[in-house]
Amino acid sequence: MNLKNCHNFSDFRILAKKKLPSPIFHYIDGAADDEITYNRNTSAFNDVDLVPNVLRGVENVDLSTKIFGKKIDLPFYCSPTALQRLFHYDGERAVGKAAKKFNTMFGVSALATVSVEEISSLIDTPKMFQFYFHKDRGLNDSCLERAKAANFDVMALTVDTITGGNRERDLRTGFTSPPKLTLSSLFSFATKPMWGINYLTKGKFELPHLQDFVKEGTSTNSSIGNYFSTMLDQSMNWSDAEKLCSKWGGHFALKGIMSVEDAKKAVDIGCTGIMVSNHGGRQLDGSRSPFDQLAEIVDAVGDKIDVICEGGFQRGTHMLKALSIGAKACAGGRLYLYALAAAGQAGVERALGQYKAELERDMKLMGCTKISDLNRNNLRFRYT
Ligand code: LAC
Repeated sequence: MNLKNCHNFSDFRILAKKKLPSPIFHYIDGAADDEITYNRNTSAFNDVDLVPNVLRGVENVDLSTKIFGKKIDLPFYCSPTALQRLFHYDGERAVGKAAKKFNTMFGVSALATVSVEEISSLIDTPKMFQFYFHKDRGLNDSCLERAKAANFDVMALTVDTITGGNRERDLRTGFTSPPKLTLSSLFSFATKPMWGINYLTKGKFELPHLQDFVKEGTSTNSSIGNYFSTMLDQSMNWSDAEKLCSKWGGHFALKGIMSVEDAKKAVDIGCTGIMVSNHGGRQLDGSRSPFDQLAEIVDAVGDKIDVICEGGFQRGTHMLKALSIGAKACAGGRLYLYALAAAGQAGVERALGQYKAELERDMKLMGCTKISDLNRNNLRFRYT
């Protein structure tokens, strides 16, 4: 398997598995408990069928959409994900530059390995900063100030990581940030020497938004579950979110909203968007998939704020279904992470290009030329 043979999500996943030491691959690939929600996030799309129209003159397809007041050329974007330097030595630089090439939004995690300042110097396309509410208020203020100064367009507060999810693959492999060699992981690191050489020679592993405030994740090894459970403030409530929203003073989103009740509260506190998301199935196993939950949230708040469907997307047709329900855009992490691990920027560009080509082809086959042509008449649910 090489990049030229990667034609879809599963191909990139296979190549990523070949390139990465197994604790790192399973950190991306794994989810909580029995991974029921993780699997449902994708299989949910198969319970809905597309109903195409024909004879509509579809030679020119416009995939652009507007989120958070910005036009992006694709109806999907790269969700913020942590620790990208572990997946490829270019990390967030690779993903940011690929996103720029397609003029879509790039989300930078608080747990990113490249700073907001550097990302800002590399790309002038729309950028989102993803924020965790830490116990350390100095850290929180610093993240907000730095993202603001670096001209980030959107602040997204993650609300579904109030404690660490039970990621049993990470427990088995001993995955931590930074990675540590254990007796059991030694073999898997030894069998991927290129990863090791790149990790050791292509710049230092850093978490530039956090490391001046907390040792965990940089100079002290920590699992991600442990990081969430010990560093984040479990007393976080709606009043804190409202204060952060007004402190930021720009486009503000809550990432990880699943109920209509919470979606309405997000509107009330001044959010301009929400990501309907269960954190890629990595937190609460047994929770509903974003796609299954999308319609009721769009019906409740879709005319007031941008509703983004996040998680489970592996195909252009999956995105068409979410957009037909009324999502303003689709987003995902694994969507581009396997491709990053497979081949850095070239991999991410190939993956984004393939989703774009799929969307263009599928839009034509649906008889649609612009995203606003998609609606629920295009869909039939198999089980209602
Ligand atoms: C995760 C966090 C870091 O899911 O977003 O691992």
